[in-house]
Amino acid sequence: MTSDDLVGASRLPSVGTTIFTVMSALAARTGAINLGQGFPDFDCDPALVDAVAAAMRAGHNQYPPMTGIPALRQAVSDKIALTTGHRYDADAEITITAGATQGILSTVLALVHPGDDVIVLEPCYDSYGPSITLAGGNTIRVPLVPGTWRPDFEALARALTPRTRLVIVNTPHNPSGTVWTAGERARFAALLAPTRALVLSDEVYEHMVFDGVAHASMSGLPDLAARSVVVSSFGKTFHVTGWKVGYVAAPAALMREFRKVHQFNVFTVNTPVQHGLAHYMEDPRPYLELAAFYQRKRDLFRAGLASTRLRLLPSEGSYFQCVDYSAISERSEEDFCRWLTTEIGVAAIPLSAFYEDGRNQRLARFCFAKRDDTLNSALQRLARL
Ligand SMILES: Cc1ncc(COP(=O)(O)O)c(C=O)c1O
Repeated sequence: MTSDDLVGASRLPSVGTTIFTVMSALAARTGAINLGQGFPDFDCDPALVDAVAAAMRAGHNQYPPMTGIPALRQAVSDKIALTTGHRYDADAEITITAGATQGILSTVLALVHPGDDVIVLEPCYDSYGPSITLAGGNTIRVPLVPGTWRPDFEALARALTPRTRLVIVNTPHNPSGTVWTAGERARFAALLAPTRALVLSDEVYEHMVFDGVAHASMSGLPDLAARSVVVSSFGKTFHVTGWKVGYVAAPAALMREFRKVHQFNVFTVNTPVQHGLAHYMEDPRPYLELAAFYQRKRDLFRAGLASTRLRLLPSEGSYFQCVDYSAISERSEEDFCRWLTTEIGVAAIPLSAFYEDGRNQRLARFCFAKRDDTLNSALQRLARL
């Protein structure tokens, strides 16, 4: 018997190589500037590297506590209290994870039983669907309003049933860059109030909200905080996506279930990085100043694109800028992004990658978490459009 015969049916039959990997490889092969995959091309604060190196030298190199080191859980609790007003108990309500992605998978595995419905708002980050499938749940896809990507509360109300175990939301939003308003959050809370549905709130871009608007964390409203698991990522906030460290915050009853899975999933997360982060976060400025840092990059990038035939969609938060290319090309999104990479020399991601049905709306996503000279070089190339 071959290995293929022995493997038999796949647990995730529709998962293949992602478009992010494909476009990054194409960009590397063709020498294109990679504005596709979402990661910074600049380094983190050297003080953070020093803090991690100091932790290693001080001998913080063995297993930490399963839930994360107390100093980092306290730093996260303080950060959330400062930014959203909600105080999580650092011992019972916060766990340090191996990035947000592990936080998302462990949350879904902990809370979703086989046959439960889980609502996702499409377009969405590509780990949600496979996480739900692995838990044996049914993914119920509710589209965000096409063109504006605001939550569609009527469609959401229709999708909510007694079978709904979990609703996954994401603000600021990848890929569209939209940010929920306080009003939308309140409407969401009212919609869920008569139900038993839980919420998984993916807030990895929480510190990248522009134009003076406040991030509408699900932890900021008591009714939502009581039913939400909030997930975030130090990788996004401190320009260290490769460190894969994040956190999950939730009321104690939900956190107890989360930790049962976390314990046998990763058990613990990189010790010296946790010590380094705890030390670095004693100063809140790096995360409080992040929105201004990225807003300037957004404005630089948008100003450069304004003279092209690309139509700019709003970017209220995150480090993504979406464009409508229908004035330039009738190609499918994937074909257009391949053409843009090979012929213009700038890689982007087709929005279709964030939909189950791969629909084509002639939209592409750029990541502007890049050095100014990278953005300027990309703009020079894109000026041909
Ligand atoms: C919406 C969203 N959630 C989660 C993640 C994953 O974060 P991490 O790298 O911390 O696992 C990403 C990364 O791109 C993301 O865009």
